Amino acid sequence: MADGKTYTLLDGRKVATEIKKEIAAKVKALKSQGKKEPHLAIILVGDDGASSTYVDGKVKACTEVGFHFSLMRFATTISESRLIKHIEQINNDDDIDGFIVQLPLPEHISVVRITEKIRADKDVDGFTNHNFGSIVSKNPLLLPATPNGVMELLRRYNIDTVGRHCVMVGASRIAGAPLSMMLAEQGQATVTICHKYTKDLASHTRMADILLVAVGKPGLITADMVKDGVVVIDIGISRVPDKAKDSGFSIRGDVDFNGVAPKSSFITPVPGGIGPMTIASLLMNTLKAAEQRKH
Ligand code: GUN
Repeated sequence: MADGKTYTLLDGRKVATEIKKEIAAKVKALKSQGKKEPHLAIILVGDDGASSTYVDGKVKACTEVGFHFSLMRFATTISESRLIKHIEQINNDDDIDGFIVQLPLPEHISVVRITEKIRADKDVDGFTNHNFGSIVSKNPLLLPATPNGVMELLRRYNIDTVGRHCVMVGASRIAGAPLSMMLAEQGQATVTICHKYTKDLASHTRMADILLVAVGKPGLITADMVKDGVVVIDIGISRVPDKAKDSGFSIRGDVDFNGVAPKSSFITPVPGGIGPMTIASLLMNTLKAAEQRKH
């Protein structure tokens, strides 16, 4: 590398900007055919600081690509049944092409019950069982947004997954579980899934050609846990106290970047890696949902 680095940074921010330009051009084309712009609705319950920041990023991205958006905010105290009523209204609102319910939700509301109320063809997060299951079908529907953002980043850097050993650390419903299925199904990789009960994590991570981490434990993966030449995808986003920052915190991933980067061939930064790709993926799904609704 020109700057003396041995690794290539997987620049999610740059790739997401490219994708947003492509989407903006498609929105223009739709409008020139007399069709309406895609409409994304976002439900935000409560006033969690991190969730508000993520939602601000999604709203900004909608504006950048020319989507119409609706932000629907509800108090933390809203009951599950009232929230379901709002979801049903959006399900039946012909003007809205796709919507998401920002997580986490307050403890008195069941994420599982809420998710299953979302109409699958408007589920642009790809969270419902219907869309999740479509990963292993011949006709994938709205693919889970974060995993699809990872797959898209790998494709855009021409990183081949076929027959390679991918080690997924974390088996969450949002990231690890669907991503490991997508790596096996669409990526035709050999996949190991590690989770909180895995014994001797390092013995698995050291085998990885491609290491993907989504657990939310800052700095979990250290240099001694990877082999030379590994491709590293860090999906963790945690806020850690940082007196040097005006906000009082900085964003850290699950990988000790400074230690691991010199051993890797490709690595994502945090922030600026998978975060922007998740938003780009959400926009891609919203465009797909709108096109399939044939306005
Ligand atoms: N909270 C953290 N990540 C996500 C995401 O990708 N979608 C939603 N809806 N909530 C989240």
